[in-house]
Amino acid sequence: MAAKLVVGNWKMNGLGAALDEARAVASGLGATSARVGLCPPATLVERMARALAGTPVLVGGQDCRAEVSGAFTGDVSAEMLADAGAALVILGHSERRAGYGETDALVAAKVEAALRAGLEPIVCVGETLAEREAGRALAVVTGQVRGSLPAALAGRAFSLAYEPVWAIGTGLTPTIAQIEEVHAAVRAELVSVLGPAGARAPILYGGSVKPSNAAEILSAAEVGGALVGGASLKAQDFLGILAGA
Ligand code: PGA
Repeated sequence: MAAKLVVGNWKMNGLGAALDEARAVASGLGATSARVGLCPPATLVERMARALAGTPVLVGGQDCRAEVSGAFTGDVSAEMLADAGAALVILGHSERRAGYGETDALVAAKVEAALRAGLEPIVCVGETLAEREAGRALAVVTGQVRGSLPAALAGRAFSLAYEPVWAIGTGLTPTIAQIEEVHAAVRAELVSVLGPAGARAPILYGGSVKPSNAAEILSAAEVGGALVGGASLKAQDFLGILAGA
């Protein structure tokens, strides 16, 4: 069985002192078979990469701009993240799709930028509660998969993250059957879009993953790992999740 990929998304949390948590994650990993990543705010990427150098923990960004450089005040390019020591980048998170109007086409352009810079993208998809209640969860998620993945991904390392918007930061989680239903649909769409390369990419689950539910979620069919928000901020919680991987 392929190693699970478990990635922490710190969102807009963390000053320099929080690097102690990252160090504690690296020193507490033990014999985990999982691939582990932490995505701090952009201000901490370089310092975290230095702090974790020589450990198996990968560092990532939470977003990037599609262009290499230019007059884009406040933005960060994939090349800049890679230059700072990042190996991963989260793209198309629902907080960016909803808060910044990011479309599938824009996410696909960012994925191409990540590949150009040698970063491994983690592409997020997920339905809102209204979409689920309208019976449209599978249609919305597979549509996002199709629209957000450029053909250039075939043969490259990447992962998908299914994150139901209503489960993010709420303490609510789908049932295991609901997770398995969506992951199966995502897998079929990945294969349809990318061919055999789509059969290998891990499909992560994200949304209120915590130590108490991680083992059950991570052992569900087609769950190749987890994208963890709130519970990745404290090393003890994140290590508790990794214990379930
Ligand atoms: P949460 O966030 O674990 O705090 O629900 C997950 C995410 O947004 O990636």
